[in-house]
Amino acid sequence: MGLPRGKLIVVANADAMARTAAERISAHLRPRDRRFAICLTGGSSPEGLYELLATEPYREAWPWKHIHVFWGDDRYVPQDDRLSNFGAAQRLLLEHVPIPSGNIHAIPTSAASPEEAARQYEAELHRFYGAERLDPARPIFDVVLMGVGTDGHTASLFPGQATLEEKDRWVVGVTQAGLAPFVPRVTLTYHALAATREMLFLVDGDGKRQVMREVLAGADLPATRAHAWGNLVWLVTRDAAPERRDVA
Ligand code: 6PG
Repeated sequence: MGLPRGKLIVVANADAMARTAAERISAHLRPRDRRFAICLTGGSSPEGLYELLATEPYREAWPWKHIHVFWGDDRYVPQDDRLSNFGAAQRLLLEHVPIPSGNIHAIPTSAASPEEAARQYEAELHRFYGAERLDPARPIFDVVLMGVGTDGHTASLFPGQATLEEKDRWVVGVTQAGLAPFVPRVTLTYHALAATREMLFLVDGDGKRQVMREVLAGADLPATRAHAWGNLVWLVTRDAAPERRDVA
């Protein structure tokens, strides 16, 4: 078995996953005065990473004033709701580091509808990128973090939904989530997520072993359809890896 695309790195546990992800992201932070854009993910898998980045050496050493933070998807709930992906990153990471508030690009969740929020976020991404069309020589993001659900979804791209076929829009509204929590979502589409120097999947826990078996067998899942202009890396804990594998 092997990944249809990308590279698989198996690590011992959630702590090792956080450390490895932090070091991979750090490697992209050069030169230090360059504008850097990271797209965060929701769910529990990135929580250890967010907590780690709020401690030394990252809190002091990272050039936070040049770092811009986006989200690959969010739940359409108030920002202080416990389901909010923005809220989780804010609580675990962003309120502990010296990042200017103007560098935090949350998905709006108080627009009239998820679709309207998607349009607003797309306009924000266009403004940040400086164009409405992607230039293959110039990605939007330096790093995009991703997760995978037990049904194979990634970001809020769920199996069987029309959003998987979207070829034009950068951001879309999702009225019906395919998996709990069943709240509407706003998600970036594949081609916006792909415009990155590195896409890093974080997969943690034995609850993910079956979906990782499908991923490695090359099943057609939302997560396996994801691609990146640059590196595509699956960082997986040993208990989520379907068979005994050597640990990086
Ligand atoms: C969301 C996420 C979603 C997540 C996966 C994995 O908002 O729900 O962005 O795509 O990454 O569901 O979540 P866990 O890490 O909690 O398993």
